[in-house]
Amino acid sequence: MIQIDNLVKKFPHKTKAGKNSEKTAVDNLSLSVGEGEIFGLLGPNGAGKTTTIRMLTMQTQPTGGRIRYKDMDLAEHAQELKSIIGVVPQHVNFDQDLTVGENLELHARLHHMKRAERQQRIRELLAYVELTDVVNDGVRRLSGGMKRRLLIARALLHQPRILFMDEPTVALDPQVRRRIWQLIRQMARDGVTVFLTTHYIEEAENLCDRVAILNKGRLVALDTPQNFCEKLGRYTVEWDGSAGREYQFFAEKQAAAAFAGQQAGDGSILIRPTNLEDVFIELTGRREGI
Ligand SMILES: Nc1ncnc2c1ncn2[C@@H]1O[C@H](COP(=O)(O)OP(=O)(O)OP(=O)(O)O)[C@@H](O)[C@H]1O
Ligand SMILES: [Mg+2]
Repeated sequence: MIQIDNLVKKFPHKTKAGKNSEKTAVDNLSLSVGEGEIFGLLGPNGAGKTTTIRMLTMQTQPTGGRIRYKDMDLAEHAQELKSIIGVVPQHVNFDQDLTVGENLELHARLHHMKRAERQQRIRELLAYVELTDVVNDGVRRLSGGMKRRLLIARALLHQPRILFMDEPTVALDPQVRRRIWQLIRQMARDGVTVFLTTHYIEEAENLCDRVAILNKGRLVALDTPQNFCEKLGRYTVEWDGSAGREYQFFAEKQAAAAFAGQQAGDGSILIRPTNLEDVFIELTGRREGI
């Protein structure tokens, strides 16, 4: 559904000495995403996640490489593809002078939705994200979480076939986050392709069919959450070492137990299943979600 080949984005950049130079935000990225797949892009701050989404959604021009949707080149079919793409941006970008309802109405009109369809869809989505009561409030007055819910409703209005979500559940309370996960799963079951970024490892582990890890603009690894954990070793032993918490990974539970038995019994030792966060730290040297 999405085919990315050798994608590059460079930004002009001033060095410490004040010289003009270039910074590579996305460095030769190639990957593909299948129809109905939930695909997660993970990486530390500044890894290039948002820049990738912005290129995939025609908000910024790539410096190099190629993007195709269903064998259609993005550069050649921009108009056609815009109608099947939905975007939840990382940062709120509503018209602050309009109400909740007016913002949705504006988006629906931009997508040439007919009046009856527009009204019905807006009503349904407001109910889904529990914003019906604030339909006539100015968006300025919404809380952070309400704004994020409105961003999601807006992205879904025109029933996109490919949905990009840049940190969709940041700042949402746990109940709403789980509702959004349900919604994403339902959409994927309906054949919608979902491409999301997140700093919540739990979100990627729960939701994503496959996960790509990006670091400094480069693809570090790509696999299913299960395979990632299996490759690292399904069992983790962790303990308080001299340089803070230390970790060791094992394929077999017996080997993990034997290793733990050899360590000094200071009570800090723990054997547990390996999770995606362990994988993330091993691959990027950074701890996410904290
Ligand atoms: N418009 C821009 N001009 C110059 N540099 C930019 C611009 N946008 C992004 N960058 C740089 O590109 C790199 C990647 O940024 P990007 O926003 O894609 O990271 P990210 O992975 O989304 O990070 P975060 O997790 O913090 O959202 C960073 O070094 C950033 O400073
Ligand atoms: Mg970002």
